[in-house]
Amino acid sequence: MHGKDGSGNRVDGYRCEQVYSPEQDTYLLLEAVLHELSCADRVLEVGCGSGEIAARIAEIAPVIATDINPHAVIAAAMRGVEVVRTDLYAGICGEFDLVLFNPPYLPTCEEDRLNDWLEYALDGGESGREVIARFIAGVDRVLAPRGRILLLASSLTGLEEVQHIFAGHGFLVFIVAARQVEDETLYVLRGTRDLCRCRA
Ligand SMILES: C[S@@+](CC[C@H](N)C(=O)[O-])C[C@H]1O[C@@H](n2cnc3c(N)ncnc32)[C@H](O)[C@@H]1O
Repeated sequence: MHGKDGSGNRVDGYRCEQVYSPEQDTYLLLEAVLHELSCADRVLEVGCGSGEIAARIAEIAPVIATDINPHAVIAAAMRGVEVVRTDLYAGICGEFDLVLFNPPYLPTCEEDRLNDWLEYALDGGESGREVIARFIAGVDRVLAPRGRILLLASSLTGLEEVQHIFAGHGFLVFIVAARQVEDETLYVLRGTRDLCRCRA
């Protein structure tokens, strides 16, 4: 598809100026997902953007994706991804064996905030961890008992702080991938319920 969408944004194939284009963070998370994924997994991708990761997962296992950005929902749907427009996983029912999220993680103050949909891909609030914290706080509801979480994090966001948020909600967390990209280090964190703590 070429031309403009209903809001006048340039649309090229399934790419749109208001949708996050796959970057190094996308591909680092995709690599970790492909390492982790089995065909028996029921997968939820939160914040699927262009659908790059979800479309690849769909070749192997059933996947549902969400995004808050309506342009991203169109872009992902045009790639054949089953996608719902919602905040994180609100309204998504069922249990998933693998839940992944490449979240907005840049620390952003009010005066730097842009008023467009692409901002949702980047703006992690003042700490950079606001969306991450909400995601971790509620993910229990959609996670199967032995489910796994893969979350992209960055040195710009504060790796230890993100690990603490996981621990505070009863998750064990490990770094499963890391890559230096210019002035930041990207990480993929793998979270699972701390079953010892759950039993205590
Ligand atoms: C960094 S981009 C990643 C996009 C894609 N997953 C990738 O890796 O290329 C973050 C995505 O999360 C979406 N997003 C941000 N906040 C969200 C929320 N509260 N609920 C659902 N999606 C959200 C953004 O619209 C954006 O598409």
